[in-house]
Amino acid sequence: MEGRGWLIVAVFICLFGFSSCRELKVTVKHKHNQHHHLATYNHTLARILVQYASAVYLSDLTELFTWTCSRCDGLTKDFEMVELIVDVKRCLQGFVGVATDLNAIVIAFRGTQERSIQNWVEDLYWKQLDIDYPGVDGAMVHHGFYTAYHNTSVRPGVLRAVRKVKNLYGDIKIMVTGHSMGGAMAALCGLDLRLSLGEQNVQVMTFGQPRIGNAVFASYFNQIVPDTIRVTNGHDIVPHLPPYYYYFPQKTYHHFPREVWLYNIGLGSLIYTVEKVCDGSGEDPTCSRSVRGNSISDHLKYYGVEMGCDTPSGCRIVMDPRVVAYARKDLDGNLILSRDLSNSILKLNTDRGDQGSSA
Ligand SMILES: *[C@@H]1O[C@H](CO)[C@@H](O)[C@H](O)[C@H]1NC(C)=O
Ligand SMILES: *[C@@H]1O[C@H](CO)[C@@H](O)[C@H](O)[C@H]1NC(C)=O
Repeated sequence: MEGRGWLIVAVFICLFGFSSCRELKVTVKHKHNQHHHLATYNHTLARILVQYASAVYLSDLTELFTWTCSRCDGLTKDFEMVELIVDVKRCLQGFVGVATDLNAIVIAFRGTQERSIQNWVEDLYWKQLDIDYPGVDGAMVHHGFYTAYHNTSVRPGVLRAVRKVKNLYGDIKIMVTGHSMGGAMAALCGLDLRLSLGEQNVQVMTFGQPRIGNAVFASYFNQIVPDTIRVTNGHDIVPHLPPYYYYFPQKTYHHFPREVWLYNIGLGSLIYTVEKVCDGSGEDPTCSRSVRGNSISDHLKYYGVEMGCDTPSGCRIVMDPRVVAYARKDLDGNLILSRDLSNSILKLNTDRGDQGSSA
């Protein structure tokens, strides 16, 4: 591993060599270790939001849209779906709705699962900081994460739904969540809601999220969306990627705060989960960085909730004829299922039988 680590460093140095024209733009305008407000961790809220981040993975759009899926029960029972966005080509999915018990708009994203999770994780080692985050001197992010939110049908769908809900409910808070790459999209969405819609009350909570950008980006993010919690679990490999190198902290990827690291202590049958609330650096060396990130299974379960797709081919789409009426397709074949909130709540009868059809 040590040898491999150095190889990765060497390759990184090469990659930075190639992009040196961008690198020169890094300025010292932002004081990277200057922390703004830090979010307070709320365990109860985390246990609720993780269920939304889990549900958004499901491929049966009927059950998801009508909120009758196997993962749509329990702590999220009071959810009213407003818009379900499926970017078919890129295998992305997100939804916007109202959680009446939280008195909040909840937005959740799932990441891409086009390939196996192993392949996706291996690719994460090599993600470059290859585009500038617009409007912020020296802030760089990974192009793939940026475009997944900003350059797909996801963003317009989310913004439209948020406006629609706010027209009806007025000024309620917004909670954005997601797991893995969906966490990266959730973070970019939270930032966008602050910047593009001027939303004041935006909370972000992500689970097993990879790094998104450099230190300048992390610092900017913390300033604009201070109410952010980034939950990491045990040895989950994904929060360790793309790599962070403390010997050139301004040049590589850098997490934003505030991490909450879940880890187990104890032996045998006496095992407790500790929830460690980490410091304001984003890269607290006493949190997940204190262990080796080598586990995919720790990535796939948070707070005991299954994360990830319910089917081996995560991009499969199943839709029942009864919700087709709510769906429209854009020119690229992406799907939007949308509900008019002023109509009474649809509660479809969901003995699906075998009516599910693959799109
Ligand atoms: C934590 O979140 C729950 C659910 O939103 C809320 O009911 C509770 O008041 C919150 N606790 C604190 C201390 O804010
Ligand atoms: C966004 O997508 C369009 C069309 O697919 C493409 O031409 C454009 O370069 C993309 N922008 C970014 C920033 O990737």
